[in-house]
Amino acid sequence: MRDLDEFTITDETLSQMANTPNARFKEIADAAVRHMHAFAREVNLTPEEWLQGIQFMTAVGQACTPLRQEMILLSDVLGLSAVVNALHDKKARELGSQSSLLGPFFREGAPVMPLGAQIVEKPPEPEIVIYGKVTGNDGTPVPNALIQVWQTSERGLYDLQERMGESMDMRGNFLTDANGDYHFKTVRPLGYSIPMDGPVGAMVFNQKRHGMRPSHIHCLVGAEGYRELVTALYFGDDPYIDSDTVFGVSQSLVVEARDDPASPVPGLRAVHFDFRVARAAPGESGRVGADPTKLMKAAE
Ligand code: BEZ
Ligand code: FE
Repeated sequence: MRDLDEFTITDETLSQMANTPNARFKEIADAAVRHMHAFAREVNLTPEEWLQGIQFMTAVGQACTPLRQEMILLSDVLGLSAVVNALHDKKARELGSQSSLLGPFFREGAPVMPLGAQIVEKPPEPEIVIYGKVTGNDGTPVPNALIQVWQTSERGLYDLQERMGESMDMRGNFLTDANGDYHFKTVRPLGYSIPMDGPVGAMVFNQKRHGMRPSHIHCLVGAEGYRELVTALYFGDDPYIDSDTVFGVSQSLVVEARDDPASPVPGLRAVHFDFRVARAAPGESGRVGADPTKLMKAAE
């Protein structure tokens, strides 16, 4: 293994990793090495550029706290999270609702609220209602499904940003009733800028991107025997609906709040959305994202 050049270094690296016992880890690490080396050769990476990249990744790691996941944000703005979501959707054994990004603001342990509750502590006018059903792929209602919802305020900030994680607001968990029905009240969230005050924001700014996400409500739907559905509902009239910085919007997830005689709360504009969950395959797991507090604990 002497006199290696920019091509044979790749072969030698792979050969030194050849005895990795975990086959899946080996597959991933081998491909990462091949692609990283090919990338460096393609752009003819200079030592200065390599160092800049190292400094950037160091800054991204250092920006992570229990309340902020800059690594996930980086994956999001580079489209990697959306690609992983799309691959995950394809693996489902049957069709469910489309998924979307979990994002960096999900928190475990939001309060379970009675159906119909308002998730915003001090709701400014006007309130809206979100309602619908959780069903399986064949339309069978799924009772007792847990729907976890979280969103920004009408000011475009999550509680993690406004309250520094000290208490929860604009989040709630709901269990579907015996017919698989759910409904809750909220206010229309404001579309918002991804956090721009860190290294990822600086990169997005340098790329002359606007950094905005269209107005949306996150939903995480789980039920015994079904694969977890991580998704979000997007308001179609938002100016950023077609240029989401993190590529989370699908047409099937676009909603509008309107007068709706079928709404369970007369007098409020309503969004009607039925969630379809797919049956779980054995041993399947699949949440593209995590509560940032939990990620910090796992890294300790
Ligand atoms: C979010 O929707 O909460 C989000 C997703 C990706 C990056 C930033 C925010
Ligand atoms: Fe969000």
